[in-house]
Amino acid sequence: MAPLYLGLLASLAVNSLGLAFTRRASIASISTADWDAFNATVSGNLRNGEPMLAPCYTRYNGAPQTPNLEQCANVQKNGGNLSFATEQFGLYVNSQWGGCQATGESCTFGAIRPDVLTPILDSCEQGSVPSKYVDVRSVEDVQRALVFAGERGVRLVVKNTGHDYMGRSSAPDSLGLWMHNLQPPIELNEEFVPEGCDESTGDATTFGAGQQFGEIYDFVEGHGYRIAGGSSLTVGAAGGWITGGGHSMLTNELGLGVDNVQQLKAVLPNGTHVTANRCQNQDLFFALRGGGGGTFAVITEMTSRVHPRKDMQFVQMGFTNIGPAAQSELMEILVGNGEKWASEGWGGYVYCFSVGTGLFIGTGLLTHEEAVESMNPLSEFATKFNLGIVKVETTENFREGLQDFVDLQVIGIAPGSAWALSSRIVKRESFAEEKQAGLASILTDFLNVQQELLEPSLQILVLCLTMPSVYSQNMPESDRPGGPGEASISPAWRDGIWQALHFRSYDGSITDPKLVRRIAQNAHDAMNPLRAFTPGSGAYINEADPWEPDYIESFWGEENYARLLGIKREVDPENLLMVHKGVGWEENDGRFSCYPDVQL
Ligand SMILES: Cc1cc2nc3c(=O)[nH]c(=O)nc-3n(C[C@H](O)[C@H](O)[C@H](O)COP(=O)(O)OP(=O)(O)OC[C@H]3O[C@@H](n4cnc5c(N)ncnc54)[C@H](O)[C@@H]3O)c2cc1C
Ligand SMILES: *[C@@H]1O[C@H](CO)[C@@H](O)[C@H](O)[C@H]1NC(C)=O
Ligand SMILES: *[C@@H]1O[C@H](CO)[C@@H](O)[C@H](O)[C@H]1NC(C)=O
Ligand SMILES: *[C@@H]1O[C@H](CO)[C@@H](O)[C@H](O)[C@H]1NC(C)=O
Repeated sequence: MAPLYLGLLASLAVNSLGLAFTRRASIASISTADWDAFNATVSGNLRNGEPMLAPCYTRYNGAPQTPNLEQCANVQKNGGNLSFATEQFGLYVNSQWGGCQATGESCTFGAIRPDVLTPILDSCEQGSVPSKYVDVRSVEDVQRALVFAGERGVRLVVKNTGHDYMGRSSAPDSLGLWMHNLQPPIELNEEFVPEGCDESTGDATTFGAGQQFGEIYDFVEGHGYRIAGGSSLTVGAAGGWITGGGHSMLTNELGLGVDNVQQLKAVLPNGTHVTANRCQNQDLFFALRGGGGGTFAVITEMTSRVHPRKDMQFVQMGFTNIGPAAQSELMEILVGNGEKWASEGWGGYVYCFSVGTGLFIGTGLLTHEEAVESMNPLSEFATKFNLGIVKVETTENFREGLQDFVDLQVIGIAPGSAWALSSRIVKRESFAEEKQAGLASILTDFLNVQQELLEPSLQILVLCLTMPSVYSQNMPESDRPGGPGEASISPAWRDGIWQALHFRSYDGSITDPKLVRRIAQNAHDAMNPLRAFTPGSGAYINEADPWEPDYIESFWGEENYARLLGIKREVDPENLLMVHKGVGWEENDGRFSCYPDVQL
């Protein structure tokens, strides 16, 4: 009898995880005196959270206010500068996550600047911007905030740069932990020995939770190294990027972000500060490298491997105004050479617009001559359509070569815009000869889907493919399943040649729930043919849409998920750290009704 009874209890415990069993207190229910007392424990770092554009509006949260026109002009002028934007607590790079999409309550603005109309026609609502937050300056701030949130039962949200595509760094009626300013000086640790290990794992760099790639690149390149990092200089390295997997142009050669991490320090939901690496707290080390942002613990410090600088070959090319037939032919060339190019170390981005396709790719594994030879199929295509020469540029380092893509992104990311997207990892098997035509035609159709729809959106599709990984070929034994360095990412990455993405961008001032829902639904649906074409593959949790069907299989795979669930139960029995609102780890207590009602 007893074992059966225990089994029943255990299954109840499993079922209740992810459901509401912690009473949630509203931020407003906590008295001013209690906030003041808490503020004193976090060295006065508690702040009131406001949407960044609140100073522009004559009405804020239902009450009239006098706009601060100087502040308003400043944020409108600089809001599209991602360095500036990520320094603002009340800004989200995908602007819709600052609002409540289900009700339309928000405080956004149009992509055309200055937007003088929206602040007059509309009123500014708090939306999903946390109304109180701790501007974290120390590990102790994180510890005290977690303990306070646990004791009071308030919802906690961890925010770093606000780049997240799933809206995991915002939530209505929550206390925010803003990690951005936790930026102790970056360190170089040559011959780094992880704490508790006996041997060095090679050269590494150590930085704080708020560090962004721009500064990390400058630092390591200045010391003669490369690091596998993101394409955008403003994405944070130790927040969503690393907890989701982290792909880089260098991933093909050097692995994903999670493969390069040597050590993480993090605060558990009960306030304990721990060190996780391949020699201690391996479970947490596994969970934090793929389990998803804001889930198992709050990372305070990260140490990642660095690699000696070396020459790289880059190709940047735009094929525009070539017409649909040539577009399809180009996609067939990309698909037909996909596996070969991956084996030669090429990684990077292909962006598809209805007016043409562009690519930005690089490799550190080929000489200049080999790279030119490797690009022959593209050169022939360019010659045939009179599109100029496919030029291979050699640079001495990665950062220098990346700059062209950074410049492109500045043009591509419209300030104040909202984004809906979906993702699919395309594995090697889908590049088999008999599958190539099917794959190319599905990817080409992304563009046609785009044109058919009558959406009030800007309709720009910026990126259709990232070419991340055949790294698993030389992955060390210790990082393979069962080893101490295993990561919890989808196993599909290990056999992935490309990640396909479908983006839809729309003006941030579009907040009508019906329209927003249609855009999100269309971004979700656009990936369905590729989902059907790649059964058993996965999606990148950081670039997936929040309604990813079969998300357990897609983000982690059943086995990783089962282990993650056990770890979550152990380190976070109260389910204090919430993450994915649409799918996964969901705390289903109704507060996330801000999501559009997209149908799977
Ligand atoms: C312009 C742009 C370019 C991108 N380029 C790349 C790319 O090249 N490669 C790639 O892999 N991805 C890329 N991404 C996706 C990126 O990885 C995700 O947006 C990621 O979630 C960003 O993490 P963040 O910490 O900077 O952002 P946030 O939105 O601040 O946080 C994201 C998630 O991380 C959690 N989090 C933040 N800090 C911590 C912490 N200290 N401890 C625990 N959890 C934390 C948050 O709670 C949230 O769940 C890009 C996104 C954008 C918008
Ligand atoms: C917290 O304390 C600091 C320093 O005393 C103060 O400047 C700040 O306004 C306080 N925060 C809140 C939200 O009251
Ligand atoms: C962007 O913002 C950063 C940080 O606020 C600032 O240093 C930089 O000069 C700005 N760049 C431009 C082009 O305005
Ligand atoms: C916090 O949780 C961890 C993991 O469950 C546990 O090992 C540790 O003892 C806890 N610390 C405290 C102070 O309760």
